[in-house]
Amino acid sequence: MPNRDYQNERRDYDAPGLSKTQLNASPFVQFSHWMQDALNSPIQDATAMSLATVDRAGQPHNRIVLLKETTTTGFIFYTHYDSDKGHEIQHNPKAALLFFWPELDRQVRIEGELIKISKADSQAYFESRPKDSQLAALSSMQSKEVASRKVLENTFAQNAEKYQDQPIPHPEHWGGYCLRPNKFEFWQGRPNRLHDRFIYTPNENATLWAIQRLSP
Ligand SMILES: Cc1cc2nc3c(=O)[nH]c(=O)nc-3n(C[C@H](O)[C@H](O)[C@H](O)COP(=O)(O)O)c2cc1C
Repeated sequence: MPNRDYQNERRDYDAPGLSKTQLNASPFVQFSHWMQDALNSPIQDATAMSLATVDRAGQPHNRIVLLKETTTTGFIFYTHYDSDKGHEIQHNPKAALLFFWPELDRQVRIEGELIKISKADSQAYFESRPKDSQLAALSSMQSKEVASRKVLENTFAQNAEKYQDQPIPHPEHWGGYCLRPNKFEFWQGRPNRLHDRFIYTPNENATLWAIQRLSP
């Protein structure tokens, strides 16, 4: 089979259109409808989202994390607080999330500020994870150089042995962040590149959201 040429990669988007009247007044509810559609479709990793943060030098950094909970005020993921992203967030809590669901021709952009969730909530979630995931969180110094794969595996094995018959302690360095949004964008791919784009921006006390259609 001939190799595909990325420069000629393109397709038409023919999903049904999106109009202002179809959108929920709450972007959180709108998001939950779209997330449910993604979960009900054959998409793998529907909860994977790109998280963009900015370092002290103004350099943006992007990586995938998994959305674990949506509350009425924010979007929660879990990570290592002492990782590169943790340091970036400590210096500048402004961040952006991005979901791309190609099978639905949909993209969602969410912007806002990150805050750490409570230690009790992080611990409760940590304890709900499979034991191997708990051991990995305990054993990884995320974003730091590691001499070899062997070093990583040995640390994991040592912790597995140490905590064989007892609960794995929730590490201080591991927990959740909640992104409190101040802007949402819902993008629906349409024919002829005339895509539907709607943004939500909050009023002063964030009780109501204004919806505007943007040019694609
Ligand atoms: C599908 C997928 C899911 C991931 N989920 C998480 C996650 O929930 N939390 C996390 O800290 N890293 C997750 N990662 C790893 C991150 O992308 C990243 O490598 C790591 O957090 C280190 O980022 P940093 O060095 O910028 O802090 C995931 C990666 C992929 C590809």
